[in-house]
Amino acid sequence: MVNTKVNLSGWEIDNPVIPASGTFGYGYEFADIYDINCLGSFSIKGTTLSPRFGNPTPRIAECQRGLINSVGLQNPGVEAVIAHELPELKKVFNKKVVANVSGFSIEEYAKTCAALDKEEQVAILEVNISCPNVHNGGMAFGTDPIAAAEVTAAVKEVTTKPVYMKLSPNVTDIVAIAKACEEAGADGISMINTLLGMRIDLGSRKSVVANKMGGFSGPAIFPVAVRMVYQVYEAVKVPIIGMGGISTAEDVIEMMLAGATAIEVGAANLVDPCACKDIITSLPAVMEKYKIKILSDIIGGAH
Ligand code: FUM
Repeated sequence: MVNTKVNLSGWEIDNPVIPASGTFGYGYEFADIYDINCLGSFSIKGTTLSPRFGNPTPRIAECQRGLINSVGLQNPGVEAVIAHELPELKKVFNKKVVANVSGFSIEEYAKTCAALDKEEQVAILEVNISCPNVHNGGMAFGTDPIAAAEVTAAVKEVTTKPVYMKLSPNVTDIVAIAKACEEAGADGISMINTLLGMRIDLGSRKSVVANKMGGFSGPAIFPVAVRMVYQVYEAVKVPIIGMGGISTAEDVIEMMLAGATAIEVGAANLVDPCACKDIITSLPAVMEKYKIKILSDIIGGAH
């Protein structure tokens, strides 16, 4: 019998597998497919202060071992998330969630987090300063250590819940951004968001996605994510939620050896809605294969 429990800032979850924001809706959409209570938790679709329609279509481009998305933070806004999405979820999911928050100004991040702070279903605020698909805000806050620290500090002022800053890989030095967030009070780091990418249609000679560029994710980015988690683990003391191309239980172990306490699965959910369930089911056998009895013992084990 193996122990798959992990602890994120005092919040113990049954296993480290969390569907990533934007790849699992508000969770209840999957409840007809399987009992989602097997998940460690999940990260809700990126929520902004006001409703957003998102980017024009097409929003998706297929790639080798991954895909580009340019959704543009489509969501009904924080009021509707609190009034409708979280109560709907509560009917089918008896665990707490990670609330992913985006914004276009520091004030907007703070207001959205303040609203979600009151929700008992929310265990952790995952503050997305790394969305590559919007033209102001989003990634702009996550590519500069000073701006990243300012968002962190503003959010910390309005909440007592743990704040995890979600970082962009589209930077020269992700360690500097992670350290700036930690110094500003972040309780954890979520990493990595998607890599800025582009596909061009040979016939039309135009970008495949209407917004020209988008975020590249999927198994192709896994080695980049492992490398960045490894580097950040050496530089900060707070827990890391590692993500980027995870699609198997072996990937979970590798990401945890690099330094992640928990992991998020993103693009794999879009290929197979049962991806997270399958990873959770196969995790004990893979742990036994590598002689791991207590999963949390391996965090940072590659260092
Ligand atoms: O476009 C999107 O909604 C994606 C958000 C993100 O990658 O953070």
